[in-house]
Amino acid sequence: MTDISKAGTFTLGSHTVNRMGYGAMQLAGPGVFGPPKDRATALAVLRAAVEAGVNHIDTSDFYGPHVTNEILREALHPYKADLTIVTKIGARRGADASWNPAFAPAELTQAVHDNLRNLGLDVLDVVNLRAMFGVHGPAEGSIEPSLTVLAELQRQGLVRHIGLSNVTPTQIAQGRGIAEIVCIQNNYNLAHREDDALLDDLAAAGIAYVPYFPLGGFTPLQSATLNDVAATLGATPMQVALAWLLQRSPNLLLIPGTSSLAHLQENLAAAELVLPPGALAALDGITNEAAQ
Ligand SMILES: NC(=O)c1ccc[n+]([C@@H]2O[C@H](COP(=O)([O-])OP(=O)(O)OC[C@H]3O[C@@H](n4cnc5c(N)ncnc54)[C@H](OP(=O)(O)O)[C@@H]3O)[C@@H](O)[C@H]2O)c1
Repeated sequence: MTDISKAGTFTLGSHTVNRMGYGAMQLAGPGVFGPPKDRATALAVLRAAVEAGVNHIDTSDFYGPHVTNEILREALHPYKADLTIVTKIGARRGADASWNPAFAPAELTQAVHDNLRNLGLDVLDVVNLRAMFGVHGPAEGSIEPSLTVLAELQRQGLVRHIGLSNVTPTQIAQGRGIAEIVCIQNNYNLAHREDDALLDDLAAAGIAYVPYFPLGGFTPLQSATLNDVAATLGATPMQVALAWLLQRSPNLLLIPGTSSLAHLQENLAAAELVLPPGALAALDGITNEAAQ
């Protein structure tokens, strides 16, 4: 069995977690909407992840909606004491599976209570405010009104720690003036490196950076260079993509998503993969144009 502790640990909120974690979004149905095609495998994936030592799981009540949290609860409740579940608020799903902003105080409060109920918790470990002001990613705009609501829910004892998602450096600075921020979750991978400078700044500040779409998300990474490096190392391209992220910075925590037991084991094994300098140099040459 893979020793995922080889990828190291990082303190996230109240716990020190393995840097190799798991993202639960893929456990909902197609389009992150409705029930999964194979609920038994979804439960098995979660149990196998925790069995392998994963103690950082990313979720949200808007996956499904409710579905992913309900599966998490069925698979893992009562939760192990060292398990950190990170959820996120700030969106609401339409009946047509659309993603809609939900930043009104009542919506943010409802989202925290939905997460508590569906996860079966009295307090949430970490809640990310998912700003997503742009159509395709972060865009400037004040997060003060919504973060103030989340900070009040933290004061009430419903939330232990706060993170931010889909945010710009300006919004992170604004957020850190309102509440302690323990993690940032933005889109980042071998081919999308807009946050390179931000990642380094957060490392210096001791704040976790948790890239979503580490494997490319809905458009899996494709690159001849990635394939060549993987073939040379006897690894798969996805393992190399994850190992590159692990070697990128010690504050970077992985939450690759999968609905497949085989992919889960493949991804976890990346925790033991060390990329030699030549491979790192080749991978660093991949640009947005070369891979997608
Ligand atoms: N804050 C935000 O706005 C935001 C947005 C998106 C996601 N997230 C979080 O980030 C997590 C990770 O992102 P993600 O799941 O969207 O994308 P991802 O981890 O980059 O990629 C997941 C996709 O890759 C496939 N995959 C996984 N392992 C594979 C392997 N070894 N070989 C081939 N294909 C593989 C999965 O399909 P299979 O199921 O077939 O393996 C799925 O289609 C999510 O689970 C979610 O918790 C947050």
